[in-house]
Amino acid sequence: MTKTIRQMQEDIKLVDLVIEIIDARVPVSSRNPDIDALAAGKARLLVLNKSDLADEKENTRWIRYFKDQGLVAVLTDARNRGSVKTLMPSITEACREKIERDRARGMKERPIRTMVTGIPNVGKSTFINSFSGKAMAKTGNKPGVTRGKQWIRLGGKVELLDTPGLLWPKFEDKTVGENLALIRAINEQILDEESLALVLIRRLRDGYPGKLALRYEAEETGTDLSYLEEIGRRRGCLRKGGEIDYGRAASILLDEYRSGILGRISLEKAPEKVITITSDPSES
Ligand code: G4P
Repeated sequence: MTKTIRQMQEDIKLVDLVIEIIDARVPVSSRNPDIDALAAGKARLLVLNKSDLADEKENTRWIRYFKDQGLVAVLTDARNRGSVKTLMPSITEACREKIERDRARGMKERPIRTMVTGIPNVGKSTFINSFSGKAMAKTGNKPGVTRGKQWIRLGGKVELLDTPGLLWPKFEDKTVGENLALIRAINEQILDEESLALVLIRRLRDGYPGKLALRYEAEETGTDLSYLEEIGRRRGCLRKGGEIDYGRAASILLDEYRSGILGRISLEKAPEKVITITSDPSES
């Protein structure tokens, strides 16, 4: 077991609620299934961040999909403090059972303790910063709390651990690996930029026909490679001697996708319907 996972296990013991941040453009690929075991017995909130970069129609469908699975799920743009601040009702909803249990036992209501987890680059730090805002108050060390851990207190209702739990991205599946590289959760470990750009061109041509043509003012005809070449030509990515610099063209395309210049694009589409598999066929 790695040190990060051990640390997270220790941190999770201190909280009531685990906030799992994923990327709204790839809600399945950006989840790490280990979180289910790590956060067992804790209340959960699923945050589909970077929703400003994802297709609005898909955002709505994904929220419905996760809700159908019994999860409390919300859309955010972590850079927008207002968007993060509206999470309070969802936090309360996710912790309803705990709050009711405490009340029934006659326990005094205390702030909900929570922490943020997620794979790299999904916006964990941005989320923590926006959530704390100017009203941030560091509560310092508390008895029973690991030395050096800081809690950010929010309006007396929530205490958020200031360090996020880092989950490792999982990519046994090729498409998942491509998705993770496209959102930069992993560096070009599995694919170089040029190959990744070709993957993106194919996905856009299939899922969002016309998007490339709109941005690069070139018909989406020919092969994916010839399209990358066309982007290079139109953006002046030329080597000495007039040869196309495919690497530079790839880098432009990937940057424009990642920053949203190409438009709101979801790389994973929500399934039509949740399929529940039961072990007893008579139950289905
Ligand atoms: P992490 O802690 O999970 O690793 O992610 P972090 O907060 O560092 O955010 C990664 C990048 O994503 C940052 O951009 C951040 O501004 C951006 N980001 C976070 N949340 C959102 C969101 O909801 N919408 C959009 N559009 N962007 C978001 P950066 O510092 O410029 O890094 P990079 O983009 O150059 O990687």
